[in-house]
Amino acid sequence: MTTVPSPAQLGGRSLERVVYAEEEIRRRVEALAREITEAYGPEDELLVVGLLKGSFIFLADLVRRIELPLKVDFLVAASYGAGMVSSGEVRLLYDPEARLTGRAVVVVEDIVDSGTTLNRILPLLAARGPKSLELCALLHKRRVRLDPEPRWVGFEAPAEFLVGYGLDHREELRHLPYIASL
Ligand code: PRP
Repeated sequence: MTTVPSPAQLGGRSLERVVYAEEEIRRRVEALAREITEAYGPEDELLVVGLLKGSFIFLADLVRRIELPLKVDFLVAASYGAGMVSSGEVRLLYDPEARLTGRAVVVVEDIVDSGTTLNRILPLLAARGPKSLELCALLHKRRVRLDPEPRWVGFEAPAEFLVGYGLDHREELRHLPYIASL
């Protein structure tokens, strides 16, 4: 299936190219959900924590394919402001309400770029005593090494500015059903 960008969604911007089409994303998300389903059991009390806002579409598609009992919660961290380059500063705007202690926690992130967000967030979550703490990132640019690295990665992302499927440019273009470079 070819993804044809709808000019009406782009608000006058032009895309460089579609990097991951809808169908390719769907297949990859299904595979990730299968692997997560196989990695845990009902006794793990799986808690899936989505990092907002970027992960909202990926998270919604992923959890609907995980065949286990689970809870969903969110964490809001913002690092980029309005620019296209990371400011290196991460602000926590919302903290998960759900208990993390004793549960298997999977943090869902749309993209790992400079690693700043995760380096800051993961220690905070680890301090709450989860049974396990893993990371599932749809995209990883491999600019940095993370400790720990995500257990699940959807795609090795190119060093381009990516938008769509949750990823924004100045808070817009998150609603594109595919991932494109700007
Ligand atoms: C973006 C993206 C990741 C993070 C990755 O979030 O969604 O969370 O940056 O970059 P890093 O690895 O350099 O930290 P942003 O802070 O723009 O907020 P958003 O999720 O609301 O778009």
